[in-house]
Amino acid sequence: MKTPEELRSHRWLGVHDLRAFGHRSRLKQMGYDRADFAGKPVIAIVNTWSDINQCHAHLRMRAEEVKRGVWQAGGFPIELPAMSLSEPFVKPTTMLYRNFLAMEVEELLRSHPVDGAILLGGCDKTTPGLLMGAISMGLPALFVPAGPMLRGNWRGQVLGSGSDSWKYWDELRAGNITEEDWDEIESGIARSYGTCMTMGTAASMMAVAEALGFTLPNASSIPAADANHSRMATASGRRIVDMVWQDVTPETILSPEALHNAMVVHNAMGGSTNVIVHLIALARRAGLPLDLEAFDAVSREVPVLANVRPSGAYLMEDFWYAGGLRALMGNLREHLHMDSRTVADRTWNEILKGAEVYNADVIRGPDNPVFAGGATAVLYGNLAPDGAVMKPAAARSDLLRHRGPAIVFPNYDAMAKAVEDEGLEVTSDHVLVLQNAGPQGGPGMPEWGMLPIPRKLVRQGLRDMLRISDARMSGTSYGACILHVAPEAWVGGTLALAKTGDEIAVDVEARTLDLCVEEDELARRREAWRPPEPHYRRGWGAIFQDHIGQANEGCDFDILATRAPVPEPEIH
Ligand code: FES
Ligand code: MG
Repeated sequence: MKTPEELRSHRWLGVHDLRAFGHRSRLKQMGYDRADFAGKPVIAIVNTWSDINQCHAHLRMRAEEVKRGVWQAGGFPIELPAMSLSEPFVKPTTMLYRNFLAMEVEELLRSHPVDGAILLGGCDKTTPGLLMGAISMGLPALFVPAGPMLRGNWRGQVLGSGSDSWKYWDELRAGNITEEDWDEIESGIARSYGTCMTMGTAASMMAVAEALGFTLPNASSIPAADANHSRMATASGRRIVDMVWQDVTPETILSPEALHNAMVVHNAMGGSTNVIVHLIALARRAGLPLDLEAFDAVSREVPVLANVRPSGAYLMEDFWYAGGLRALMGNLREHLHMDSRTVADRTWNEILKGAEVYNADVIRGPDNPVFAGGATAVLYGNLAPDGAVMKPAAARSDLLRHRGPAIVFPNYDAMAKAVEDEGLEVTSDHVLVLQNAGPQGGPGMPEWGMLPIPRKLVRQGLRDMLRISDARMSGTSYGACILHVAPEAWVGGTLALAKTGDEIAVDVEARTLDLCVEEDELARRREAWRPPEPHYRRGWGAIFQDHIGQANEGCDFDILATRAPVPEPEIH
């Protein structure tokens, strides 16, 4: 147990000198009294609320509820706003900003008199951004997931975020629904605050945060609009104060075993491929090596048990009523490291005791899985020497072993135009290839990986075909999409050398992905390849392109992935 004099904030607030006098007088300027803060842990509430972040619209309320808990437990709460990465609104892609959010979190905590942190977020990149920053800073930190929104509803039909947008967009393009129907869907698909309620990056990453041990038990699946969510926020506020006294730092939570548990849960949830990038980045922040093979290996062992769209039938609200993540993890005991400790100061052995599933169709048992295994496959070959990823479960099964001619698009705009062209020479055998959509190329590795099926083929009723890119894909997307090709085209990966008409061979069972072009021809093309002009000459974009790593490395900045120490600020 720490003493008040050992608190980090003591250097700002507790000592008898002119500087500390200044700090205390400034707190008093805001109406606080010595009794509010003297000798108490200062808890930063890092809040990613904004007026244009639909998924975090409730986080101002939640911050107040966290404060209530911090006061109850004898801490001093201070809310620190951080960049809010609203997945749909922030362009060109939130992924361009994940590492900047992580930097902001780290520096907010470092530069202020803070002893511990509550991290408020959940919309896609906010979860990894908050955690990465907190891990690098190393102070006790507890994640309060924003939670999923309620189910969508249209004429009594349940609608899911993302998945049903793509689905009904195709139906509109095919002429199967009217413009009026489409407008009604717009009003029904998102009808409360909270994150996407399908198994997108948000739901996957919040579950992963819980499995890593960074949330209170069963926090990650509580619907945002449920009163349980408010109580979870307050309980988190109480707990973080004790975590400071006990010095429960991220380093004590993040172990190889915790990472394994996170990968198990990711697979059992049928989680987003984006988690792979984020979890590798998180692990490396903690100095723990994690690579793509680990995901493939875990995926072969662990069945998909969460029957949630897009892999399954239900939504996160149903998942909560069925018992939530605690119930799911209760069905995964044999795969989990049960002795890992969490921020709750308990092991999974203790947390999962008595965990019950209330709807065995939503949260399946190992004897009745949604998929027996193989939710994530990592492919290698001359087209992806450093790997590429795929969700076989979300693809038409005959495409898992396929050889066909490529149609290659050098960028998104060319692709978007071509797929709408009824004259495009394309059959269901073709492989659509998008270049220059990776970390450098996009820039920011946007979620373009689910290339639209050409309009001509949609009209013929085709809904899936093989697609390959160095982009990411939304977790709410589906189809035979091979993603994260590394190295990316922009830096001269083999993907940059592919030409329309080349044959591409994929064998998911064998985990291979090849461009069937002779080695000497490839060498000639490589010789002729010239690096593109950089996207940015100034600003954050320039910093991004100077420091961003490839997908298989987690897309972190090289200056952040290092474990080199940063000195505590001098207080003068
Ligand atoms: Fe925020 Fe999907 S838009 S989680
Ligand atoms: Mg998403």
